[in-house]
Amino acid sequence: MDFTASAAQLLNIKADSLILPTGPQLKDSAEALDKSLDGAISSLIKAGDFSGKSGETMVMHIPGGSGKRIILLGTEGAGSAQQQIKVIAAGAAELLRTPSVKAVWVGEGLAEDSEWQAGMVARSIQTASYQYAPAPKGIKKAKPKKLKSLTYWAPSKADANVAKKGLIFGSAVGNGMNAARQLGNLPANICTPSFIATEAKALTKGQAKSRAKVSTSVLSEAQMRKLKMGSLLSVSAGSVEPGHLIVIKYQGTKATTKPVVLVGKAVTFDTGGISLKPGGGMDEMKYDMCGGASVIGVINALIETQMAVNVVAIIPAVENMPNGNATKPGDVVTSMSGQTIEILNTDAEGRLILCDALTYAERFKPDTVIDIATLTGAVIGALGKVTAGMLSNDDELAEQLLSSGTRSGDRAWRLPLYEEYDELLKSNFADIANIGGPQAGTITAACFLARFTKKYKWAHLDVAGTAWVSGAAKGSTGRPVPILMDYLRRKAV
Ligand code: BES
Ligand code: MN
Ligand code: ZN
Repeated sequence: MDFTASAAQLLNIKADSLILPTGPQLKDSAEALDKSLDGAISSLIKAGDFSGKSGETMVMHIPGGSGKRIILLGTEGAGSAQQQIKVIAAGAAELLRTPSVKAVWVGEGLAEDSEWQAGMVARSIQTASYQYAPAPKGIKKAKPKKLKSLTYWAPSKADANVAKKGLIFGSAVGNGMNAARQLGNLPANICTPSFIATEAKALTKGQAKSRAKVSTSVLSEAQMRKLKMGSLLSVSAGSVEPGHLIVIKYQGTKATTKPVVLVGKAVTFDTGGISLKPGGGMDEMKYDMCGGASVIGVINALIETQMAVNVVAIIPAVENMPNGNATKPGDVVTSMSGQTIEILNTDAEGRLILCDALTYAERFKPDTVIDIATLTGAVIGALGKVTAGMLSNDDELAEQLLSSGTRSGDRAWRLPLYEEYDELLKSNFADIANIGGPQAGTITAACFLARFTKKYKWAHLDVAGTAWVSGAAKGSTGRPVPILMDYLRRKAV
């Protein structure tokens, strides 16, 4: 997909489709367009065929046999950024449904901020064109005509210039989300810890000529044993698939700038281990690696934009299975930090792999550490499938993430880390137990992690509710790539 920005005469831009966001009152560019079409748009509004309300879309053909069409997007009532994003996403879906090759998006009449709007347009088009690969053999689908290029039209040259920045950023975010979705959607018999390690290596290979330096290294179980990662290894113990600790370094600015470390949970399948999960819907536990996949999506987007930030991605990748070597409830293990853990429930495995990865993060002298994990079912009870849970030991970092969530439409909400919750993790056989009982499950999980993140600024995103959707249109969403990319964009120098 080619994205360009332009402030040229609207009807002079060669295109087969024109996407026009508008309310019932036509703004300057829409009005000029309407005039040149003898009032075709305004008469639709007058007749009540198009109300201009947010959520409404209408395709009209320009008479005269040019084959050109105008896609009207209603904007009235789309006041918040979230609603504006919905308008844009509906427009992108409509654009890809109609056989369009080259389109123009009229960037007037919705958001004030051209950079933001152009970014959302590019991101929505990229994510709307995602198709799961490999498609099942034998089913031939009609090939949709693929949009080849999109020109984002802005009312002034200055606007077009900032829109251009937005297009580059948004397109990369969309591609990063798609990369995360693809990994998430792959079944667990293909997407094993070794598979993710190979994908991570492939991502950074051949980047020698790019401005940013990127590299991947993978620690084996033997190497992790040397590092005394007894907690992480206790999770992969019950699987024939070896666990890996994947480390991707992205250096986009000077080496002395402290990195943001992103730690992504990648349990390629979570059976619960000996604390076996019930059977219904267990297939969805192939998505338990979506935290790790989102971190790979972010690296993908950073490479594409060559953003001037330093990021280290750490992905503990394991499979949680109940074979004869599996960890048993009551087992006590020693983490890399030296703290001992009484494993009361082998289904609370995410925190067991994250804690060693979080201790490993210390060696990169991080500016900030953010971990991303499909960690608790409880976060779905608290926030549903709409908002990610966020917990942090640093108020400024929490504020930044809240704000990035709003701007990107990939929202998170903060929960507290009060010490009363931490007390629920007391164990009489070890320094800490791995579960805190039936109450406040998302918070006690984060309190567990907080015991391992005392040396740096840290935030935790629990994306168990937002990383994938269930039901007929089941699939990975690519969240939280957008919030993380917005956070990093603000950090970039
Ligand atoms: N991967 C799950 C969390 C999860 C559950 C995500 C359902 C999405 C949907 C995690 O490893 C887990 O099993 N957590 C347990 C923790 C409990 C044993 C303290 C949970 O949430 O039930
Ligand atoms: Mn589990
Ligand atoms: Zn899990």
